Amino acid sequence: MTKDNIFMKASNIKKVYAHSMGQLEILRGVNLEIKEGEALAILGSSGAGKSTLLQIMGTLDRPTSGELVCDGRDLLVMDDEELSKFRNAEMGFVFQFHHLLSEFSAIENVMIPCRVAGENPKLAQEKAMNLLEFMGLADRAHHYPNELSGGELQRIAIARALVRSPKILFADEPTGNLDSQTSLKIQDLFFQLKQEMKLAIVVVTHDLAFAKRFPKVYQMKDGQWVHP
Ligand SMILES: Nc1ncnc2c1ncn2[C@@H]1O[C@H](COP(=O)(O)OP(=O)(O)O)[C@@H](O)[C@H]1O
Ligand SMILES: [Mg+2]
Repeated sequence: MTKDNIFMKASNIKKVYAHSMGQLEILRGVNLEIKEGEALAILGSSGAGKSTLLQIMGTLDRPTSGELVCDGRDLLVMDDEELSKFRNAEMGFVFQFHHLLSEFSAIENVMIPCRVAGENPKLAQEKAMNLLEFMGLADRAHHYPNELSGGELQRIAIARALVRSPKILFADEPTGNLDSQTSLKIQDLFFQLKQEMKLAIVVVTHDLAFAKRFPKVYQMKDGQWVHP
């Protein structure tokens, strides 16, 4: 951790795709600093480059150029195996769709990252159950995805993202697939998480009302920040 408590720093991130019509510049030199335990929102219309940036910050994709430092480590020099270890230890992800596995119960889904990491199954189960309790879903632990509502599924996906106690949670349109009432409940949950768990939260959304609830909002357009 640096003296400014900067947990993650992205510098001059560019993403360019080769295209038959020429080069397609998706990110045009984006800078972003995330402090330890900070919550911020990234707002922007569809196609702005928000998901591309989040995928790069989350090491699920590599930039064409730029620098990415997280928890004192230079992420862009790591190979895929190192990155996946780092990611599994430090980062959690939530997407618009829950991506739960239908053949596993709620609690089994939450435990998957622990199993992958080789954690003790009993401890993993305890952690998963504690998180489901926190999410208000203890009584749904042994239900399967097809028996659960959209909001419940998303809360389980959030529990799965948190089960290894990441230092940062990336969420890409986490309420994009929910009705407005359920969306509000999931929004509240993010702020509760920020209060109760020490983790940085980066939420990508095109919902202005959701973004405005964050202490810090960055707006993206055509692969760049829009400065107010
Ligand atoms: N693999 C790809 N090849 C070419 N263009 C892509 C690729 N992935 C995304 N894009 C383009 O990058 C732009 C930004 O996409 P994205 O990051 O998904 O935007 P947002 O999440 O803000 O809607 C879009 O114009 C999209 O079509
Ligand atoms: Mg997107």
